[in-house]
Amino acid sequence: MSSAAGNAVLTVAGLSVGVRDLRLVTDVSFSLGPGERVGLIGESGSGKSLTALSLMGLLPEGLRAAGSVRMAAVDHDLVDASERDMTRVRGDRMAMVFQEPMTALNPLMRVGDQVAEVMLLHDTQPDRRSARAAVTELFQRVHLPDPERMPGSYPHQLSGGQRQRIMLAIALANNPSVLICDEPTTALDVTVQALMLEEILAGVEREGSALLFITHDLPVVAMVCQRVLVMYGGRLVESGPVREVFTSPRHPYTAGLLASSRFEESDTAGRLPTISGSVPAAGHFPAGCPFRDRCPAATEECAEWPGWTGGAAHGFACWHPVGRTGQ
Ligand SMILES: Nc1ncnc2c1ncn2[C@@H]1O[C@H](COP(=O)(O)OP(=O)(O)O)[C@@H](O)[C@H]1O
Ligand code: SF4
Ligand SMILES: [Mg+2]
Repeated sequence: MSSAAGNAVLTVAGLSVGVRDLRLVTDVSFSLGPGERVGLIGESGSGKSLTALSLMGLLPEGLRAAGSVRMAAVDHDLVDASERDMTRVRGDRMAMVFQEPMTALNPLMRVGDQVAEVMLLHDTQPDRRSARAAVTELFQRVHLPDPERMPGSYPHQLSGGQRQRIMLAIALANNPSVLICDEPTTALDVTVQALMLEEILAGVEREGSALLFITHDLPVVAMVCQRVLVMYGGRLVESGPVREVFTSPRHPYTAGLLASSRFEESDTAGRLPTISGSVPAAGHFPAGCPFRDRCPAATEECAEWPGWTGGAAHGFACWHPVGRTGQ
């Protein structure tokens, strides 16, 4: 399926997530090369966040992951790793920025202490004094105002954009080899969004981190990412270089997303103007190709999962792919 060079920093193989007898994510495979920036797109309810959370070992109570998630220089699989092993990886080699930072920050702790704590936990700084100096530097780097005094603030005293930068500072504190951002700018207003994107890009470039960037904003993917993964119904349905996928999509779902992205908004029910219907609730996707009940090209054949066509460069899962340009 979708993969980077053989020296991947993260390799996900056959990842599935389920709750009781319900499959929420099915057989997701991809890898990230060192410093590579990869977008993960798909409508709300496609399984993007659950994929990200299972990489981090942060699935909600009751949900279970199966398959394999390996990181370079970590000698165990992250799926089913003990919490103790996961604590060593999380926030150190792999870090994540969430859509809503209030859920991730401790409301009762000064933000500077929260950033210092991650560095002390992973021995990135030897003592509190040097951690405090590193916090100030980190705050400068993500352009937080007043980096001398900002560390003494509590999360509720900050704006949404500032809290998101604190999350980014925490995520970058230990020079992660993989940074996952799950809709990091969705809750921010437009001008702050652009700044936050710049901070993220500068951060991963400086650290040489690979980036998995989850968003439903396709122009942002085009700007930020080199490769893109398209997800629907808990499955990867297409992946490849951004330029190729965005100009010659092979999967009808990707083509629909691209056509919709030229419109400003989905309607109040979350429907996209050019893809009929809306994303079903978990457990209500059709068997076979999950896009079957919305796809204009569906045939009887599509009652069976099409499997993956293509390889590492550009691949898709569809019985009747959209033709190449000119077809
Ligand atoms: N804790 C949970 N228990 C049951 N279903 C869940 C849980 N979390 C998410 N889901 C369901 O899994 C599907 C995928 O969710 P999610 O990964 O959050 O999608 P996305 O991030 O692409 O919007 C959705 O149908 C969602 O309702
Ligand atoms: S497999 Fe069939 S239903 Fe699914 S996207 Fe392709 S044509 Fe449409
Ligand atoms: Mg999500």
